[in-house]
Amino acid sequence: MSQIITIAGQKGGTGKSVTAVNLAASFALFEKKTLLVDCDPQGCSTRWCSIKDKDYNCDIASVLSAKATVAHTIKKTGLDYLDIIPAGFTLFQVALKLAKNPGNEKLLRLFLKDVRDEYEYIIIDPPSSYGFLSITAMAASDSLLVCMSVHNNCLEDFHNLLKMVKYIRANYSVPLKISGFFFNRCETKEDITSFLDQQNLSDIKQMVFDNFIPEDDNIKKSIDLKTPVLLFDIKSKAAKAYLNFALELHSFFN
Ligand SMILES: Nc1ncnc2c1ncn2[C@@H]1O[C@H](COP(=O)(O)OP(=O)(O)O)[C@@H](O)[C@H]1O
Ligand SMILES: [Mg+2]
Repeated sequence: MSQIITIAGQKGGTGKSVTAVNLAASFALFEKKTLLVDCDPQGCSTRWCSIKDKDYNCDIASVLSAKATVAHTIKKTGLDYLDIIPAGFTLFQVALKLAKNPGNEKLLRLFLKDVRDEYEYIIIDPPSSYGFLSITAMAASDSLLVCMSVHNNCLEDFHNLLKMVKYIRANYSVPLKISGFFFNRCETKEDITSFLDQQNLSDIKQMVFDNFIPEDDNIKKSIDLKTPVLLFDIKSKAAKAYLNFALELHSFFN
């Protein structure tokens, strides 16, 4: 049975999509069969896996509006062990319609059941703000990996996230967990410790993963080439960090 994980974090630009793509690619490189689910109308994960609009007829919006099955929507990527369900702008319109009926937030959870046995990891990339699509992503997940940055105050975001997890558990009857927190664009472990102390978040230190992702220009270059960083330069700091993070997560989940 797979682990279904949403890369969470409220602020835009913290690295949710970068992490969704690169973590999924890292699991795939370790031959863990992985499905990346793009749940953001911006479609960053889709583009960064080199999937263009013309490459697919159906996407996550077709699944949520019951026009296609998940199995029909899954696309292969350049990595043998990595598949993707793409997203594009139509997801925005479909979400507006679906949001009118309470309960539709559980549709993705229901549809992913059809394929979850085929994958070890299903990674969901949600949009940044709280709304129908981010709730849909979280309600479909077993757990959240929360992306943080030492460059942003996060106490308020942290408490909002806890409220959101409680809300989803209560309203959708799902056993959603927070697996842990990880830092992106961070250079040392000491930076994380002093940041958490300064934010009055010392209590969550034991839930912060050992591996963190450094600032690395190779990430931007790989995005320009629409490829995961490990396929752009496997020796780069970012590629090594994501590979180590994937190994840490794999032992965490097993
Ligand atoms: N570790 C990193 N090193 C360098 N640039 C990064 C890193 N993480 C993110 N970025 C940059 O930040 C941008 C926003 O990241 P993204 O993953 O799209 O954020 P989110 O999905 O949370 O909105 C990316 O396009 C990339 O240019
Ligand atoms: Mg994103």
